[in-house]
Amino acid sequence: MPAVAVTRGRLTGLHEIVDVGRDRARGGYSRHVWQPAEIELRAWFVERAERLGLGVEHDRNGNIWAWWGAPAGDAVVVGSHLDSVPGGGEYDGPLGVVSALDAIALLQSTGFTPGRPCAVVVFAEEEGSRFGVACLGSRLMTGAIDPERAGALTDADGVRFAEAAEANGIAARHLGRDDAALGRIGLFLELHVEQGRGLIELDSPVAVASSILAHGRWRIDIAGEANHAGATRMGDRRDPMVAAARGIVAVRDAAAARGDDRATVGRIRAVPGGTNVIPSAVTTWLDARSARDDDTRDLVAEITARVGAAAAAEGCSVTVVEESWSGAVHFDPVLRDGLAARLGGIPALPTGAGHDAGILAAHVPTAMLFVRNPSGVSHSPEEHATLDDAVAGVVALEHVLRGLL
Ligand code: HGY
Ligand code: MN
Ligand code: MN
Repeated sequence: MPAVAVTRGRLTGLHEIVDVGRDRARGGYSRHVWQPAEIELRAWFVERAERLGLGVEHDRNGNIWAWWGAPAGDAVVVGSHLDSVPGGGEYDGPLGVVSALDAIALLQSTGFTPGRPCAVVVFAEEEGSRFGVACLGSRLMTGAIDPERAGALTDADGVRFAEAAEANGIAARHLGRDDAALGRIGLFLELHVEQGRGLIELDSPVAVASSILAHGRWRIDIAGEANHAGATRMGDRRDPMVAAARGIVAVRDAAAARGDDRATVGRIRAVPGGTNVIPSAVTTWLDARSARDDDTRDLVAEITARVGAAAAAEGCSVTVVEESWSGAVHFDPVLRDGLAARLGGIPALPTGAGHDAGILAAHVPTAMLFVRNPSGVSHSPEEHATLDDAVAGVVALEHVLRGLL
């Protein structure tokens, strides 16, 4: 058993935040950027990093960096995110952050001193659950999103990202590409709980990532005519809820007919939202994914056509707006295979889930390690990692860092 103080039944660190951001209504956790639970997690991360003697810095985009030694170039950077989806699981994000800290603790406990700069990073708003764009912190750092657009993103209460940043000590005017931070990264390695059944089927506790599906998010606004639920004959209606419902079924049918494409509507909003009111407008949000960029775009084009036909049939109008896009990622095969070999030939696994590593991969040598999730379920309270597998992830990360540092 490794030296890291892993208490039976809980991974070092995760037990300290196990009650932070519990969502009593939805189950699981709701930890959204710069809201109380996530702010508490940020403070927890800083305290744990400082306990390891790491020097903590907050960058201009809301990301947090904990440096083992002086910040410098060609650094080996590990880490992930702390924010969650609404009602999310305990491990998506935090397992990668805790495992990074534990791997450094393990190295330190053996007297190892790094011959290369090393940092643990926590990226902001990876889930895009508050402001709608996934991997917002890593996109800002790499220049993958215009800072003006990012600053203008609003949450459900109309709070702009720029305002939330300012309220948390980040100067909105400084949001944007951070060449200094990016330039210090020699290699980024993200450990993450697996979010499917791959490692169950491979019967392996850990794997190295091979690819990430192309994926994006689109807002579908359908406008009809608000009216009285009782005084309006069925033939006299222009009901956007009916059009949206047909559109949601069309989303499922279009993806299901295209191999292993995936498309989801997990969020819907009716205005004004009265039980006895035919809505004036209904908005749904589409998440679409496929192995290739073009295939994802073709899927969305087909969905757009089908939703358009459903809206027209109801006398409604529709607009489809892209809110977030991440092209397919194929991790560097030399780095991927080198990691796998160093870890005794662990399998390589594709993922349908997006990650900050997917954003960084376009800029610096990047790799991911996955830790088995015996439930095969994620973005749900059912998400899980056993202690043994989580420790296997820490030990794997420590072994890789020992070779890189
Ligand atoms: O949506 C995703 O794939 C990731 O969990 N942000
Ligand atoms: Mn997630
Ligand atoms: Mn994640």
